[in-house]
Amino acid sequence: MEKILELKNLRTWYSTDNGIAKAVDGVSFSLGRNRTLGVVGESGCGKSVTALSIMRLIPMPPGYFAGGEILWKGRDLLKLSEEEMRKLRGNDIAMIFQEPMSSLNPVFTCGSQIMEQLLNHRDISKAEAKNRSVELLNLVGIPNPLERFSSYPHELSGGMRQRVMIAMALSCNPALLIADEPTTALDVTVQAQILDLIGKLQGETGMSVMLVTHDFGVVAELCQDVIVMYASRIVEKGTVEQLFTNPLHPYTRGLLKSIPRLGASKERLHVIEGNVPSAVNLPGGCRFAGRCTLADAHCRKEQPELLSFESGHEAACWKAGA
Ligand SMILES: Nc1ncnc2c1ncn2[C@@H]1O[C@H](COP(=O)(O)OP(=O)(O)O)[C@@H](O)[C@H]1O
Ligand SMILES: [Mg+2]
Repeated sequence: MEKILELKNLRTWYSTDNGIAKAVDGVSFSLGRNRTLGVVGESGCGKSVTALSIMRLIPMPPGYFAGGEILWKGRDLLKLSEEEMRKLRGNDIAMIFQEPMSSLNPVFTCGSQIMEQLLNHRDISKAEAKNRSVELLNLVGIPNPLERFSSYPHELSGGMRQRVMIAMALSCNPALLIADEPTTALDVTVQAQILDLIGKLQGETGMSVMLVTHDFGVVAELCQDVIVMYASRIVEKGTVEQLFTNPLHPYTRGLLKSIPRLGASKERLHVIEGNVPSAVNLPGGCRFAGRCTLADAHCRKEQPELLSFESGHEAACWKAGA
């Protein structure tokens, strides 16, 4: 597997009034060319901060990189100047967010915002940028793209706005698309359509995709590889098949049980008791121990490292496989 992105022991921390929030605390993983990676975990586990770190969009202060490396095609992004980073963003790595309304500017038409993106990154004329923008709207499945070019964001549905965001993200053929909960704000049918679209575009362009979600079902739809995050660290990683057929970490098993199944009543939906510990007050020992039915004194005392159990399948748990 050719790695295009490799995180090595990344630590992204924030200074807060209550102490240091260790939002990402020693995260290592790699992403292959043409692969789709799911990043899954409950709210507050560090998924978005991981994604924003790769884009170098962490507000500083209060945030800072306390250690580690983010290697993009071998170059450490943490060492690039802001200017170099600006060129990389959009061109090589693009990102879409949960709420497309907050990333689109309400006072400009959708088409002009895509054009702007193209003109910023490419040496092309306005007429070419306009043609390409209409093509992109068509590519992401927006009906009547020429008319929609002149629509303002508020004139479109949530699903259509997310398609516009995807068109913008794809405008410069990024090698990596990071999608942070791209379908969370959408209803179920539209969610499926957007996931299908991302999958189709991934296949056509060969870009890599990093999909952040709290929903394991979404990972199953779209991803080949997966990392599970808990309390600012990775607790399990492997292929989607490995994690679905042989989940090693009790947290992964809990998440898998909580996937809603067709016909299952809401009451029967399994939820893991308890809450994710605060990033300013992380427990010593295994961070999941407080919610784990298997935890013993050793688990509460010593933090387990990620260990390999089968090729490419790693878990950080003293009871893994038990
Ligand atoms: N600007 C910030 N200041 C302080 N803490 C933050 C900030 N942003 C995120 N955090 C903390 O970092 C942790 C991880 O957040 P986040 O990556 O947004 O979680 P997720 O995306 O998995 O829901 C949380 O505990 C959150 O409170
Ligand atoms: Mg998030």
